[in-house]
Amino acid sequence: MRSLLAWSIGVAALSAWTIGVSALGAAAAGGLHETGAHHHEGAAKLKNPVKPLPASVDAGKRLYTTQCSTCHGPSGKGDGSMASAINPPKPSDLTDASWKHGAADGELFTVISDGATGTSMRAYGQRMKPDDIWKIVNYLRTCAPTTAKT
Ligand code: HEC
Repeated sequence: MRSLLAWSIGVAALSAWTIGVSALGAAAAGGLHETGAHHHEGAAKLKNPVKPLPASVDAGKRLYTTQCSTCHGPSGKGDGSMASAINPPKPSDLTDASWKHGAADGELFTVISDGATGTSMRAYGQRMKPDDIWKIVNYLRTCAPTTAKT
C-alpha cells in the first residue's frame, strides 16, 4: 500500500514535471512571440546605450541597407525585393505607427536580436554586435513617427 502511494505520488510529480517541461518547451519554441501585437516588458526597459547622434544614425542606415532592406524595403515600408517571395507574415512596415513586437527602443532591439520565431525575421544577435543593432534602432527611429505606439 505504502509503495502504491509512493508510486502515485511519483507519477503525479512526474506528470507535473512533464507539464512544466512541455510548457517551457512551448515557450522556448514559440519564443515570446504571439501572433498578435504584444509587448516585451523586460525588453521595454532596456536602455539604448548608443546616442542617436547623426553618426550613429548614418551607421545604422548603412547596416540597414545592406542587411535588412531586401525584406523591409529601401525606406522601410516592407516592400523589399524579397518581400513578395516571403510567406506570411510579410516583412513589417517599419515606417508606420504600429509595432507588433512593441514600440520601445529595447523592444525593437530585442526583436532584431532574437528574431521572430516562426517567421523569416531571423535573430541578428548572433551575427551583429549589440551596438550595431542599437545604431539600426536609432536609424529606424528616424523612419517611423516618434509617437509610435503598439
Ligand atoms: C528575410 C526577410 C527579413 C530580413 C532580411 C529582415 N527582416 Fe525584419 N522582419 C521580417 C518579417 C517577416 C517580420 C515580421 C515578423 C512578425 O510578423 O512577427 C519582421 C519584423 C521586424 C521587426 C518588428 C516590427 C514590428 O512591427 O514589431 C523589426 C523591428 C525588424 N523586422 C527589423 C529588421 C532589421 C533591423 C533587419 C536587418 C538587421 C531585418 N528586420 C531583416 C523579415 C525580415
